[in-house]
Amino acid sequence: MKQFFKNAFVFIRDNPAILFSLALIIFIPLALYAYVFSTVKSFEGAAANEIANHDHTVSDVLLALVSRDFSAKDAPDIAALQTSIDKIAANDTKLKNIRVIVRDGREYKSIAAQNHDAVGVPIDVTPSLNGESLIAYSWVNTNEDVVSEIEVAGEKLRRIIKVFADENGEVYALAAADISVNHTLDMITAGIYQGYFFMAIIVLLSLFLIFQHTRLFSYVGLSKELERKNTAKDNFIRMATHELRAPVTVLTGYTDLLKEDLAGALNQDQQKYVDRLGLSVKNLSDLMADILEVSHLEQGRTDFKPEVIAPDMVIKEIVDGLSAKAEEKGLKLVFDAANFSHKISVNAVCFKRIITNLVENSIKYTPAGKVTVSVAAQTAKKRCAITIQDTGYGISAEGQAHLFEQFYRVKTQENSGIPGTGLGLWMSREMARKMGGDIMLESIERMGSRFFVFFPLANK
Ligand SMILES: Nc1ncnc2c1ncn2[C@@H]1O[C@H](COP(=O)(O)OP(=O)(O)OP(=O)(O)O)[C@@H](O)[C@H]1O
Ligand SMILES: [Mg+2]
Repeated sequence: MKQFFKNAFVFIRDNPAILFSLALIIFIPLALYAYVFSTVKSFEGAAANEIANHDHTVSDVLLALVSRDFSAKDAPDIAALQTSIDKIAANDTKLKNIRVIVRDGREYKSIAAQNHDAVGVPIDVTPSLNGESLIAYSWVNTNEDVVSEIEVAGEKLRRIIKVFADENGEVYALAAADISVNHTLDMITAGIYQGYFFMAIIVLLSLFLIFQHTRLFSYVGLSKELERKNTAKDNFIRMATHELRAPVTVLTGYTDLLKEDLAGALNQDQQKYVDRLGLSVKNLSDLMADILEVSHLEQGRTDFKPEVIAPDMVIKEIVDGLSAKAEEKGLKLVFDAANFSHKISVNAVCFKRIITNLVENSIKYTPAGKVTVSVAAQTAKKRCAITIQDTGYGISAEGQAHLFEQFYRVKTQENSGIPGTGLGLWMSREMARKMGGDIMLESIERMGSRFFVFFPLANK
C-alpha cells in the first residue's frame, strides 16, 4: 500500500499535467451532480406549486358550485346543485367524489353528489383511513378550507373541503371534492430517478476516463523515452560521422595520390583497383554527408535563414558544374531560363542542394538522351517553377508513391548498379517545404521523369 502511494506520488511528480486532468475529471461529475441536484429540487418546488394551484382552482369551483345554487340556505335548489355537479364532473375528469354535505341531527349526508347512489346515505365519520372523519372536523373548524392527503384503495388523493357558514358563523353546508395526485407523484419520482440515473452513468464514464487517462500518461512516458533515445541516436550519428571524417579524408588523399601516379606509375590492373577504391571512398563520404544532413534536418538544426536570390543564376552555376558529368555519360544537359527576371527568398545553400540533388538524379537515372532544366515564373500563382526533365528510366506508380520516403530506392534491373542512399529526395522535399516551397513529379516508366520545384516569388 505504502509502495502504491509512493509510486503514485512519483508518477504525479513526473507528470504534473495529470493533476489538471484529474481536477477536470473530478470537477465535471461534481458540476453535473450540482446541476442534477438543483434541477430535481426546482422540479420538486414546481410540482408543489402546481399542486397548490390546483387546490386553489378546486376550491374556487366548489365555492362557485355552492354559492350559486345554495343562495337560500334553508331551501337549496338541490336539482340545480346536482346538475352543476354532473357538469363539473364531466368537464374535469381529475375531480372525484364531488359532494355537497349537510348535517341532519347527528348525521352527515350528501344532498347532491357525483356518485348518485351516495345521495341521502348517512356518512360514516368515525376516524378511518378513508378521510371521512374530516367532514366532522371541518364542520366544527369553520372559516377555512381543509386540504389533506388521503389514500383510498391504494390511490393517493387530495381532499378539499370547503366550509359554508352563515353570517353568524354557523356552518350550514360543506362542499367536498377529491383529486387524484398519483400521476403527479409518479412523474416527480420518475424525474428524480432519471436525474440520478444519468448522474450515475456520468460518474461511471468519468471513472472509465480516469482509467484510460492513466494509460495515456504511460504513453507520454514512452514518448519521452523515445525522444531521449532519438537524441542519443542523433548524438551517436554526429560523433560517428565526425570520427569517420578523418580516416575518409586520409583514404581520399592517398587514392588521389595513387591515381595521379605521384607514388610511381601504376599498371592497368592497379589503376582499375584504385579507381574502384576511389569510387567507394566517394560513396562512403557522400553517405556520411547525407546521414549527417538528415540528422540535422530532423533535429531542426538546419539553417534556413533566407536571402533574396536570382534562381536562374544559381541554377546556371549548378548546371555548368554538372555538365562534365553529363558529358561523361554522353547526355545533353540543357538549361533554359527564357527571359526569367524574378527573385525568390530562400536559403541559398539549401536551394543549391535541392537543385543539385534533382539534376544529379536525372543524370544518374538517364542512360541516354537529354536532361533539360528550365525556370519560369507562374505570375498568377505568384511562384517560380523549376523543371528538371529527363529521358531516363522513369518511375513506376508504386515507386512514385514511396519516392519521398527516407532510404527508399526504386528497385529495377537498370537501377541496381547505381549507387545511392535513397535520402536525396526526402531531404530535398523536406528543405523545400521548410522554405515555403514544394517538389512534385510526373513520370512514365521507360519514358522519363519531370520534377517540379516551386518557390513563392519574392516581393520586388
Ligand atoms: N530522375 C529520376 N529518374 C528515375 N528514377 C529516379 C529519378 N530520381 C530519383 N529516382 C529514383 O528515386 C530513388 C530515390 O532517389 P533519391 O535521390 O532520394 O536517392 P538516391 O539517388 O538513390 O540516393 P542519394 O541519397 O545519393 O540521392 C532513386 O533510387 C531512384 O530509383
Ligand atoms: Mg539522389
